[in-house]
Amino acid sequence: MKIKSFIGGFDKNISYLIWCESTRRAGIIDAAVDISEILEFIESKNLILEKLFITHSHFDHIKYIEDLKDQFPQLQLCGYYLQEEDFGVNHRGLTHHEIIPIGTEILTVLHTPGHYPDSICLWNKKDNCVFTGDTMFVGRTGRTIGAKSNISHLYNSIYETLLILPPQTIVYSGHHYGFKKSISLRENVRLSTFFQCTSEEEFMKVMEHFEKNRRI
Ligand SMILES: [Fe+2]
Repeated sequence: MKIKSFIGGFDKNISYLIWCESTRRAGIIDAAVDISEILEFIESKNLILEKLFITHSHFDHIKYIEDLKDQFPQLQLCGYYLQEEDFGVNHRGLTHHEIIPIGTEILTVLHTPGHYPDSICLWNKKDNCVFTGDTMFVGRTGRTIGAKSNISHLYNSIYETLLILPPQTIVYSGHHYGFKKSISLRENVRLSTFFQCTSEEEFMKVMEHFEKNRRI
């Protein structure tokens, strides 16, 4: 699977364009950045954009959906089936462990609530990569201070869904918050206390400490 990242949007957001080289079928993960650069790239590679994946329905990750729908009226909007927002007739509701093809490439849907109830990650087993939205960044998790956040759910999503993937899996997150854009699970665990907890209680303490010491 080919991957190209585009950074911009509300706060160092990252949208990913992913595609299958043999069929030119493509998808975008999060409508989080201005679409003009993405459109140019799609045209230059002669790609067929068929799906938009919504890692969760926080405003900054869906900000440019209307622009994409204007350009691609048939675009399928793929998000968790219990989505917090209404995405209309082209919404395709996804379930945990559902398999979604992009041409000959395969993505497995992982429901990873905690940062937000409709958070999903998208795992490509063949190429060892996972798109994590705001569930996991380089160096830390997403925040859990929102009204619909749940630290206990996030603990399960991190430790029972993401960290059981092969350690060489590369994390492509929804924001460029770390010292580099992507990182392997192995390295993320080695570098970050967020991913070294041995119990939910310990994870809660790490999250509380993080929120107390944040600058903004
Ligand atoms: Fe978010």
